[in-house]
Amino acid sequence: MSAPNPRYRTEILPYGKAAIAEAARLIGQGLPVAMPTETVYGLAADATNGEAVARIYEAKGRPGFNPLIVHVSGLAEAEQHGFFPEAALMAARHYWPGALTIVVPRREDSPVASLATAGLASIALRCPNHQAMQDLLAAVGRPLAAPSANASGGISPTNVDHVLKTLEARIPLVIDGGHTAQGVESTIVSFLDGKLALLRPGPIDIAQLAAVTGLPIGERSARIEAPGQMRSHYAPEKTLRLDAIQREPHEWMIGFGPCDGDDNLSPGGDVIEAASRLFDALHRADDSDKPAIAVAPIPKTGIGAAINDRLSRAAAPR
Ligand code: TXA
Ligand code: MG
Repeated sequence: MSAPNPRYRTEILPYGKAAIAEAARLIGQGLPVAMPTETVYGLAADATNGEAVARIYEAKGRPGFNPLIVHVSGLAEAEQHGFFPEAALMAARHYWPGALTIVVPRREDSPVASLATAGLASIALRCPNHQAMQDLLAAVGRPLAAPSANASGGISPTNVDHVLKTLEARIPLVIDGGHTAQGVESTIVSFLDGKLALLRPGPIDIAQLAAVTGLPIGERSARIEAPGQMRSHYAPEKTLRLDAIQREPHEWMIGFGPCDGDDNLSPGGDVIEAASRLFDALHRADDSDKPAIAVAPIPKTGIGAAINDRLSRAAAPR
């Protein structure tokens, strides 16, 4: 049922007007494109298009869905997607454009796809300090979701060869901007509940950032070492039953393909579409008047593996 990963003849274009125009065209079609930033190469797609975001995960072969960093042209655009408390504004004014990713509460009216934020009530935003990425943001006119441009489990790419090593034929285009300047991923901090927390160390010094914002580095952050320790995924409150063929009377059924329900992730059985709708469907199920959730079987191949991973975590006793 699930189509194999699409194969491309991956084009490599040197950074310039023609490359940006071609990248913007592909992104407009919902495809991901590999791009230099000042930290590492990113795999960028339209953050407001859930299927485009699903194609990022598919190209990376990620077995699950991590929330992604949403790249914006500046603070004014960032404020359309997140609520910036005063300390976060100070950090953005001081470090942007640059290697700082800022996690803030997500605005409900932000058009960013729920798959990009893994259904969370927060959003990670970064204004990159690289002309190619800035040009692309201007050409597309939308925020760009971009994780590092490598297959899952690989190391982050700092030049085009690194990108091709794991993504050749899996993406249509790489823009060559030479070696990245910094070579490690951005520092990630959150400004949630009035606290500053370090979520990922990176090029920006956290002690200096604490001084700039006037906030101490939160208690919680000091102990968080691995991303897996964070509660960084939306999980439904209700119990969830997997591979359900039929709903029980007390269940809200999330269907797939011909196995229909109160909702359907993809009536046509397309796993990319299903991935793009997953978190919205889980929120709707949580908000329904039924006390439990059932989900139809979803193919376990391709991005279906990530969907099933997410669902089995949601179904696990907590
Ligand atoms: O330098 C970088 O940040 C590169 C370039 C391409 O910009 N991007 C990058 O993205 O490293 P990625 O997807 O590899 O890292 C995203 C990480 C997630 O693994 C997660 O830990 C964190 O950002 N993240 C994203 N949204 C979050 C949220 N709402 N709350 C907590 N953490 C979040
Ligand atoms: Mg990465």
